[in-house]
Amino acid sequence: MKKILIIGSVGQIGSELTLELRKIYGNDNVVATGRKTKPSEKLLNSGPFEFFDTTGKEKLIEICKKYKIDAIVNMAAILSATGEEKPMLAWHVNMNGLISVLEVAREMNMEQVLVPSSIAVFGPETPVDNTPQETILRPTTMYGVTKVAGELLGDYYVRRFGLDVRGLRYPGIISNETLPGGGTTDYAVAIYYEAIKHKKYTCFVKEDTRLPMMYMPDCLKATIDLMQADFSKLKHHSDFNVGAMSFTVGELADSIKKYIPDFEIKYEPDFRQAIADSWPNSVDDSAAREEWGWKPSYDLDSMTQDMLKVIGEKHKKGLI
Ligand code: SER
Repeated sequence: MKKILIIGSVGQIGSELTLELRKIYGNDNVVATGRKTKPSEKLLNSGPFEFFDTTGKEKLIEICKKYKIDAIVNMAAILSATGEEKPMLAWHVNMNGLISVLEVAREMNMEQVLVPSSIAVFGPETPVDNTPQETILRPTTMYGVTKVAGELLGDYYVRRFGLDVRGLRYPGIISNETLPGGGTTDYAVAIYYEAIKHKKYTCFVKEDTRLPMMYMPDCLKATIDLMQADFSKLKHHSDFNVGAMSFTVGELADSIKKYIPDFEIKYEPDFRQAIADSWPNSVDDSAAREEWGWKPSYDLDSMTQDMLKVIGEKHKKGLI
């Protein structure tokens, strides 16, 4: 890959992935796009940036021609909680955005497309512990519906057109650069910010809610390792389970209390509880481990230490 386009560079994962890919492939070879949120100075000053609404195919063609793009990473999506409030918006952004990316990549003979999927592809009938790679995909959220369709579409483009499409099922992603927005797993990020700022947090899911989670450095590693994997060794394409850790909110709060002993947590579950309850506790990622050598580095306590350090420093500087 010589020139990569990242759609959704202003989001939680996109903002960090863009900078990481710029380090590897060169600043000018990684073109960032965002819809309307103002990009950070870091993003703007480190390489090209274009405003782009993910569903506009003509504009996508124009950008791809302008920069001679040969790979697209599509990080733009409406996540689970916003998707339940605005299902048609989730369908529009997630599906029309994706099909235009796949069509442009096919028409322009691109080298690769990366489309992330999510644990949201699973549903209440899916086995909850160590959820297999191949299993029941009957999600109950619009976000999940679009992610299942996205996996199927990705695999269809591989089989039907020989396009190199790859994707991985992200668990909840925890990070300290850009806040997530509109997801169910957002509590696992907000809790750290509130612990530093106010030493207390009110969580919108119950104490015993257990979900698969991953720290951003592992998320970046998983994404880039999959992008760089040898295509001929992949048996799966758009749907790799990737695991790192699995914890309840109570365990997360206990991990924070090791470093902030007077941290307090309360629980006021809302509509997001049902979404969390429909997702697995943990996933079996042996296909990712076998096919492209996936191996996470962070566990709950090492992540907590790092999150509190980074967010604590930002707080001291008055940045948050
Ligand atoms: N973090 C996402 C969400 O909560 C799951 O992929 O919607």
